[in-house]
Amino acid sequence: MKDKLNSEIIKNDNDVFVMLDNLLEEKDNEWWNKFYSDREKPIPFFKNIPDENLVSYMDKDLLKKGKALDIGCGYGRNSFYLYKNGFQTTGIDFSKTSIEWGKQIQKEDSSNVNFLCQSIFDFKDTQESYDFIYDSGCLHHIKPHRRPEYLKIISKYLKSDGYFAMVCFNLKGGSNISDYDVYKDCSMHGGMGFSEHKLKEVLEPYFQIIEFREMIETTNENIFGKSFLWTVLMKKNKIFCISTQNQLFS
Ligand SMILES: C[S@@+](CC[C@H](N)C(=O)[O-])C[C@H]1O[C@@H](n2cnc3c(N)ncnc32)[C@H](O)[C@@H]1O
Repeated sequence: MKDKLNSEIIKNDNDVFVMLDNLLEEKDNEWWNKFYSDREKPIPFFKNIPDENLVSYMDKDLLKKGKALDIGCGYGRNSFYLYKNGFQTTGIDFSKTSIEWGKQIQKEDSSNVNFLCQSIFDFKDTQESYDFIYDSGCLHHIKPHRRPEYLKIISKYLKSDGYFAMVCFNLKGGSNISDYDVYKDCSMHGGMGFSEHKLKEVLEPYFQIIEFREMIETTNENIFGKSFLWTVLMKKNKIFCISTQNQLFS
C-alpha cells in the first residue's frame, strides 16, 4: 500500500499520460506477439499483398521515390511493395514475431527492407528525412491521449514536400466508441472506428488532406481491399509546422 502511495504520484503532464496508459488494458507488443505467432490464422491482412490505395498512389505516379517509413508494418506486406517500387524502406513494428516473419520473407525473396523492432514512440532518425510515411492499421490502436504525440512524430520525420498516407477503421470496421468512452470503459474495444468528421478533426491540425475515401473492396487476389477501412493521403500542414516548430522539433 505504501509502495503504491509513493509510486503513483502525479507531478507533471507526463505522469498524467502514464496514469492514463495504465488505466487501459494492454494491447502491447506481447499481445501482438501472440497475434502473429500463428501465421495460418484467417486474418485478411495475413496475405502478403499491398493495400488497394497504396497501389493506386503508385499507379498514378503520385509519390516521389526516396525514403519510406511504414509504421506498425506487421510482417511488412506494404513495406515490401514500397521496396519493390523503388523506395529505400524502413518498416517499424514493436512486435518481435511480426518482424521475425518479415525478415524470413525477405530472406526468401531477397528484398532489402530495413526492419526495426521497436515502438514508434522510441523511433529516432534524421528530422524531415522521409519522402513517404505510411500507416496501415496502426492509428486505430493508438490510445487517444497518445494520438497527438503520434501525429507529431510523423510530422517531425516527414519532408516538407513528402506525403503521409494512412488506412484506419471506419465505423463498419472498428468499435463505435468516443475517445471519452475509452477511459470510461478502460478499453479500446479492439480498435477504434472513426467517423469521417472525427478522423478529419484528428488529422487536420497536422496535415492537409489530399484524398479521403473508403478503401475499395476488391476481389483481385493481388490487392488488399476492404470497405471497412478509410484511406487518407496527406501532405504536411505547413502553417502548423511553422507555428509550432520549436515544440514539434524539440
Ligand atoms: C492491424 S496491424 C497492421 C499491420 C500491418 N500494417 C499490415 O497492414 O499488415 C497493427 C500493427 O501495429 C503495430 N503497433 C501498434 N502499436 C505500435 C507502436 N506503438 N509502435 C510500433 N508498432 C505498433 C502492431 O504490432 C501491429 O503489427
